[in-house]
Amino acid sequence: MTNLPPTANNKLHGKVAIVTGGASGIGEATARHIINDGARAVVIADVQDEKGQSVVASIGSDRCTYIHCDVTDENQVKSLVKSTVSIYGRLDIMFSNAGIATVTRNQTVLDLDLSEFDKVIAVNTRGMAACVKHAARAMKEGGVRGSIICTASALASRGYKTWTDYVMSKHAVIGLVRSASLQLAGDGIRVNCVSPGLVGTPLTMRVWEVKEEEEMEKVVEKFSSLRGVLGEKHVADAVSFLASEESEFVTGLDLVVDGGFIA
Ligand SMILES: NC(=O)c1ccc[n+]([C@@H]2O[C@H](COP(=O)([O-])OP(=O)(O)OC[C@H]3O[C@@H](n4cnc5c(N)ncnc54)[C@H](O)[C@@H]3O)[C@@H](O)[C@H]2O)c1
Repeated sequence: MTNLPPTANNKLHGKVAIVTGGASGIGEATARHIINDGARAVVIADVQDEKGQSVVASIGSDRCTYIHCDVTDENQVKSLVKSTVSIYGRLDIMFSNAGIATVTRNQTVLDLDLSEFDKVIAVNTRGMAACVKHAARAMKEGGVRGSIICTASALASRGYKTWTDYVMSKHAVIGLVRSASLQLAGDGIRVNCVSPGLVGTPLTMRVWEVKEEEEMEKVVEKFSSLRGVLGEKHVADAVSFLASEESEFVTGLDLVVDGGFIA
């Protein structure tokens, strides 16, 4: 059985979603949120198979499936979308969220490691484009007025003192979303970004070299103008809005969820 929290509502009633990077952090929280908001099914796509399977076990295999997919491999992305449509009959929501960051947080352009650079671009930019492409094709073929949401970042619309490759990779996501939103509007397919500020997840704890969640919360608090701790839930709320009919006339948007960090 699906473990639905008591606050369950139905704004995504009947919809079928894919969440890439769904085995951890923002993706995992959003997969749960999408189910909680009434979706018929969510497919978790990731390269961390064990973690992905355990998310499925905790959500409930009646409405959740894990599919191994490395987003840097277009064939795997194509097959992810094909399998989703063959299991559940349609695709309404693509949350293209898988991402990585260079661990060398203090690296400036002077020391840019170009092999690391290629890896970051392969997942964060190229992988994102492959997910948009194949989700849009499936939606168009199925006559589905779907919603595609890409995870960019608050660092997609400003520079940063380090992390050149990551910042570049996320700026490109905004370009992808803006162009794709224009190209797909005629088919009723919406394409938007969600751009989180700093959220404590395995990714950021690795980069900040922080072991305890409480310690990470103290770091996160400093990156927000609003008081409090920005969490996965706040990002998931924004994704759910963009996935639902509540945003039926919203496309090409970068919805920043950062507690005022870039303001
Ligand atoms: N946490 C933050 O502060 C923050 C802020 C802005 C943007 N983001 C973005 O949010 C997204 C999720 O990050 P997170 O913080 O939840 O990190 P996370 O590490 O917890 O989750 C990322 C997931 O992506 C998966 N992944 C990595 N490479 C992949 C690949 N090639 N194919 C498929 N899956 C792959 C990982 O296995 C992992 O499960 C990323 O795009 C990240 O850049 C995060």
